[in-house]
Amino acid sequence: MTTRLIDGKAIAADVQARVGRGVSEWVAGHHRRPALVTILVGNDPASAIYVRKKHEACDAIGIESRPVHLPAATRAAELLAYIDACNADDTVDGILVQLPLPRHIDTSAVIERIRPDKDVDGFHPYNIGRLAQRIPVLRPCTPAGIMELLRHTGIDLHGRRACVVGASNHVGRPMAMELLLAGATVTVCHRFTQDLAHHVADAEIVVAAVGKPGLVKGEWLRAGAIVIDVGINRMPDGHLCGDVAYDPSSGKAAWITPVPGGVGPMTVAMLMHNTLEACRLRTMKAGSLA
Ligand code: GUN
Repeated sequence: MTTRLIDGKAIAADVQARVGRGVSEWVAGHHRRPALVTILVGNDPASAIYVRKKHEACDAIGIESRPVHLPAATRAAELLAYIDACNADDTVDGILVQLPLPRHIDTSAVIERIRPDKDVDGFHPYNIGRLAQRIPVLRPCTPAGIMELLRHTGIDLHGRRACVVGASNHVGRPMAMELLLAGATVTVCHRFTQDLAHHVADAEIVVAAVGKPGLVKGEWLRAGAIVIDVGINRMPDGHLCGDVAYDPSSGKAAWITPVPGGVGPMTVAMLMHNTLEACRLRTMKAGSLA
């Protein structure tokens, strides 16, 4: 079997173009441009790159981007006060606090402070709860982007066995929820899972999201599997590598996402989607209350 690459860059560009058309229509309807505030605390180089990519995407499609960079020593109370100000500012549609935060700041408290209707990351317990109840509003970007990638393979997920490796708040668990809502039978593997190879080998869809280079071995995969590699691990020689060690010449998988150029661009594209959606929904809500 020939292994085909799922071209996340191209699919993300399509999503981004679609959102861009949505922004143009919105503005043509005499609305102000949607606006996204990103808050970066500290000087983590990878985070700085991710935030820059988010703003470049905003600029490309007419979303107003407002990057805020706070020093690493920022106190939690200052950050929370800044979020309060953004929550109250009617010209702000989306608020994204780049993670990870410095260790002295409680991440959950920060996420819970963001108004759920401006939580364009989809990380607030309200938005995660809505997803779990099958009534999603703003969905976590990476899992939502992966669902779009899976759609492009043409697979019908109903009744398929999916294995999510990694149970993080922001990727693994919402990913399992998305797959469940799409009708898959989902296994979630984590640090206490015994015989990871067995669970991976049983799955028709494998999503690896642990941040451990090459944890999932190509030889574990079942023939014809669809493999989504969420890991973006920087190796000592500087190159990026995923969580899956796969040799495409083995021809085992039917589809696999490359690293880089797979899941990463989709996360940014779905963030654009959520920012426009947050803007529209809040404007409509305000209209219906007037
Ligand atoms: N850090 C790594 N990925 C993400 C993301 O999707 N959102 C935020 N806020 N921080 C991140």
